[in-house]
Amino acid sequence: MRAVVAETSGPPEVLRIAEVPTPSAGAGELLIRVAASGVNRADLLQRQGRYPPPRGASEILGLEVSGWIASVGDGVHDWAVDEKCVALLAGGGYAEYVAVPAGQVVRPPRDVGLVTASGLIEVAATVASNLTQVGLRAGETFLVHGGTGGIGTFAIQYAAALGARVFATAGRPHKLELCRELGATDAFDYHGDWVDALRKATAGAGADVILDVIGAKYLPSNLNALALDGRLVVIGLQGGRTGTLDLGKLLAKRASVTATGLRGRPVDQKAAICAEVSRTAWPLIEAGRIKPAAETRYHAEDAAEAHRHLASGEAVGKLILTW
Ligand SMILES: NC(=O)c1ccc[n+]([C@@H]2O[C@H](COP(=O)([O-])OP(=O)(O)OC[C@H]3O[C@@H](n4cnc5c(N)ncnc54)[C@H](OP(=O)(O)O)[C@@H]3O)[C@@H](O)[C@H]2O)c1
Repeated sequence: MRAVVAETSGPPEVLRIAEVPTPSAGAGELLIRVAASGVNRADLLQRQGRYPPPRGASEILGLEVSGWIASVGDGVHDWAVDEKCVALLAGGGYAEYVAVPAGQVVRPPRDVGLVTASGLIEVAATVASNLTQVGLRAGETFLVHGGTGGIGTFAIQYAAALGARVFATAGRPHKLELCRELGATDAFDYHGDWVDALRKATAGAGADVILDVIGAKYLPSNLNALALDGRLVVIGLQGGRTGTLDLGKLLAKRASVTATGLRGRPVDQKAAICAEVSRTAWPLIEAGRIKPAAETRYHAEDAAEAHRHLASGEAVGKLILTW
């Protein structure tokens, strides 16, 4: 089969198409013939050698795909060859075939094209699992950083569908406008004082839940932006991993800080999250309450170009590789 490989870590140019052995479906697994592969920011880090795959996972980049079932491993009963599917992966998605534990494979939402569906499950699984974990409820105030990224576009719509009052940050005027179009009550330029803007918009209360993709750089500001009993959940470290947490402020606000990574979770947790996504997020997409993000498609041969685009800061929504 063909796959996008990188013989060494480095810039986008290290990515190239090569012939590699086709995997097979082991017991409890499904082999997928890939239609399209979602591109994620984590892929850029892995290409640079800064985010190695978990033990036992494929060295090939790629955390999500859509496609058709090519073969069914022993012990898997509810799938048939040629059925359409999407899958959440620990790696191996930038390839024509990938083998994956059956629990991480779900049917795509109805009426969503198979190529578009390749970019849904990583963000849906991340957003749904984290907002469930911190118990975001209808009527609460929610803030997501990077409202027009893969995570942000989904998180704004998902939280709004839960009945939360949603705010977002973004870096450019047209992105702020897009956040509002997606359902944010308001959006704030992250180059400015977004904590003050959020406070003003919430009569001083702040956010009950913050979904943070920045990490250390925003830790003090996020804590300032949290409401009493607020929950900060850190899922990205674009602004560094080591910060100072004011425990006095955390205590006074009765607040909590959690951090989660989807990729390293064991198979049974991923399966439970995929089932949750099918049950809760897909019906929202099917009902038109969540629209798949704007997408830019590249042929898999142009994976390097897709990586440059995502790194540029110009991208909106999802980037997808087609086979
Ligand atoms: N922990 C997990 O399980 C998990 C799962 C999926 C993703 N992630 C992480 O979540 C992050 C976002 O993923 P993604 O797929 O959404 O990536 P993406 O599509 O590349 O989006 C990145 C976002 O970060 C925003 N951003 C950059 N600098 C910012 C700043 N100083 N303040 C506020 N926002 C800023 C960007 O906003 P502008 O475009 O407006 O500059 C953009 O919306 C990545 O770090 C990724 O690794 C974690």
